[in-house]
Amino acid sequence: MTDAPQYDLYSPTFKAHAYQTYAQMREQAPVCQHAGLNGENKLWFITRYADCEAVLRDHKRFVKSYENTLTPEARAQLAPASKIERLLGQHLLNMDGTDHTRLRGLINKAFTAQMVNRMQDRVQALADELLDQVEAQGAMDLLNEYAFPLPIIVIAQMLGVPAADREHFRRWSNAFVEPAHNADEWAQQVSLLTGFIDYLGRIFAERRQNPQDDLITALLQAEEAGDKLNEDELYSMVVLLIVAGHETTVNLIGNGTLALLRNPEQLARLKSQPDLMPAAIEEFLRYDGPVERATIRFAKEDVEIGGQLIRRGEPVSVVLASADRDSLSFTQPEQLDTARDNNRHLAFGFGVHYCIGAPLARMEGRIALNTLLRRLPNLRLAVPVEALTWRENPILRGLQGIPVAWG
Ligand code: HEM
Repeated sequence: MTDAPQYDLYSPTFKAHAYQTYAQMREQAPVCQHAGLNGENKLWFITRYADCEAVLRDHKRFVKSYENTLTPEARAQLAPASKIERLLGQHLLNMDGTDHTRLRGLINKAFTAQMVNRMQDRVQALADELLDQVEAQGAMDLLNEYAFPLPIIVIAQMLGVPAADREHFRRWSNAFVEPAHNADEWAQQVSLLTGFIDYLGRIFAERRQNPQDDLITALLQAEEAGDKLNEDELYSMVVLLIVAGHETTVNLIGNGTLALLRNPEQLARLKSQPDLMPAAIEEFLRYDGPVERATIRFAKEDVEIGGQLIRRGEPVSVVLASADRDSLSFTQPEQLDTARDNNRHLAFGFGVHYCIGAPLARMEGRIALNTLLRRLPNLRLAVPVEALTWRENPILRGLQGIPVAWG
């Protein structure tokens, strides 16, 4: 693989022009091995839609837990995980096979379309309350004051953790998803994450005394029943739900609003035809979705994809953002089309790890954007678009802030 083309995949410039780079990769080297974030470990990047779908579909040969690629002897040699790794790492996105099915079964019910429909009125009231607080100001940071609080308050209420603690969740959640660049940053992250675990320990103790009608109580009861989930899995599940509730829908609202403000004819169409909103949400997810790359998978055996041999144990990154701009799968993929039909985007993933929160995220996105356009019809960017900067995270795609004004 020495002569494979090399791409800039981690700089702030790359983030600003990611789709151009991915177009080159699809054309020149659709399955290519490239340095990971640390510059050392190589990672396979899969950039064409058909190959991305094939990897996500093939959960038997592309597994989430590295351990599952090892022989029993090699596994026995592994150093035991630290306490924090155990308490944070035993979640759905690190699990395969029956363990994954068992854990997913525990929370499935909470996220069905039916459950989500029941929450619509509450989410609508919340969107209105958030805008009531800022309307008279004539300007706000859309991410901080609207797109961020809405989904985190919703998931906090579902779980049964105080929404008032959301600034803590934000810092903890950041520590969970942001890559550490050096030992100091790593030490700081461990300290924050230990704070997160201690906090959850206190909530769990309180909820064991006073069960409520919430997801944490349901999970605690499953843990106490014995064979359904253990303590590590309990902590990891709640952390994953808080992080997923935090780091994704915020950017559906943010990236979606930005796409509309940059495409005024689409904005005008959506305002005059609000019934298009469900299709528009799918298009925002495809056009500039919150999850740029799926979480890492590992080849369980040697597998050929797109003419390249991926060897057992090698890590693979499925680039969802690239798949969703593939002209072999979408007509005029570079165009934002809020009425696009047959929009089979991969923004929520595909296969057994398909996003469990998709119905919730769609409902939140629809209500948040409808309410925003209805209540602030003169919404516009308050800074030139070039002044916006993307967060550095390689997996997630979202801006640092979106200053907007109206009136
Ligand atoms: C627009 C918002 C969202 C997007 C774009 C999104 C995207 C994704 C993607 C791409 C995956 C699969 C990752 C992979 O296969 O590597 C995933 C999985 C997951 N998502 Fe979401 N997500 C969103 C919102 C949410 C919300 C609101 C929740 C719940 C609070 C949630 C919970 C989860 C969970 C638990 C998984 C793991 C499922 C499994 O492994 O079986 N997501 N999400």
